[in-house]
Amino acid sequence: MKRVLTYGTFDLLHYGHIRLLKRAKEMGDYLIVALSTDEFNASKGKKAYHDYETRKKMLEAIRYVDLVIPESCWEQKADDVKNYFVDVVVMGDDWAGSDRFDYLKEICDLQFLSRTPGISTTKIKGDLNLSEQK
Ligand code: CTP
Repeated sequence: MKRVLTYGTFDLLHYGHIRLLKRAKEMGDYLIVALSTDEFNASKGKKAYHDYETRKKMLEAIRYVDLVIPESCWEQKADDVKNYFVDVVVMGDDWAGSDRFDYLKEICDLQFLSRTPGISTTKIKGDLNLSEQK
């Protein structure tokens, strides 16, 4: 059984997220999503629209996702790989070359998938703000 792990906030779930999760699952048999907690996001100056429990429930309803675990800090990744017997960590290519992930190459496979153009949580928030002003 090949186990795949990915990280993210997955707020205001959109088709870029779904495509990422579909391709990540296709890289193995079991997909784990480490979902950023509200506290971790606050430490980065980010605030999701949906709270952690809501984002978790939505991810759990997606057929590609087998398990959702909390991402509470930057440093937990090597422990996640060991504790969950992960074979490959997969991220969107906005993270390619980042020190936040590169060292994982020492302990598992590390793959980056192309981001889906034209969509992001930030864009949705911006577009909704604009349409409210009309
Ligand atoms: N992702 C993707 N294509 C997009 C948007 C996101 O493949 N158009 C991927 C990211 O690369 C990441 C995962 O989905 O691996 C979760 O990304 P996240 O940061 O939660 O979503 P974004 O829409 O990028 O959120 P934000 O705008 O807040 O950065």
